[in-house]
Amino acid sequence: MPQTDFPTNRPLTIALSKGRILDDTLPLLQSAGLMPQEDLHKTRKLMVDADGGAVRFLLIRAADVATYVEHGAADMGIVGRDLLLEHKPHVLQPLDLRIGCCRLCVAGPRELIEKGAPAAGSRIRVATKYDHLTAQYYLARGVHAEIIHLYGSMELAPLVGMADRIVDLVETGSTLKANNLIEETTLYEISSRLVINPASMATRSTQIQPIIDAMAAAVDQAGRQT
Ligand code: PRP
Repeated sequence: MPQTDFPTNRPLTIALSKGRILDDTLPLLQSAGLMPQEDLHKTRKLMVDADGGAVRFLLIRAADVATYVEHGAADMGIVGRDLLLEHKPHVLQPLDLRIGCCRLCVAGPRELIEKGAPAAGSRIRVATKYDHLTAQYYLARGVHAEIIHLYGSMELAPLVGMADRIVDLVETGSTLKANNLIEETTLYEISSRLVINPASMATRSTQIQPIIDAMAAAVDQAGRQT
């Protein structure tokens, strides 16, 4: 388990990503009284104060949020379940925020998918950034999967003949459709989770628990309105 060695009197530090979930994240922060002192969409700063300096936000890549929280450089963060399943960081996950909802799917060109799932013992090339989840999925089916690690735009790999399948997030399905790919199966339903460093939870619960409670109430309220 990573060691935490950060001053406990520092501002409560919350790691966020600037990706597409930022719009849905801001109302949840607001529900907990956490108003950034700058526009998080526009600023080029990577650390932004809130709440008169008692709280600060770190603005980082989605894939790095859990790492900052696991190492205690951030006390809490908001991160997709896909990344938690893939990297298994040692963090607490007290709340499903029900934002960033999508699914982790296997997809591929229609003509390949219509031939059926690869048989046990067969070989397949799969482009993904979810190496572990993909390897685990095909191992359980006895399929020899060559994992081709990519960092984005997975949908291109089958079009240029580099892969037979992709394992990637699907939200509206429009990226698959635009690239003539179809879904084969869903591996996991995905949404964003509030994550907390275990040592921070133990030492700063008077600050952290009210934030969890306020966000939980806001998530509940949003659920009742849909
Ligand atoms: C994500 C994902 C898909 C796309 C799915 O990519 O990797 O490519 O969104 O969304 P859709 O079903 O609504 O079309 P993102 O735009 O985050 O960029 P990336 O390819 O760099 O990961």
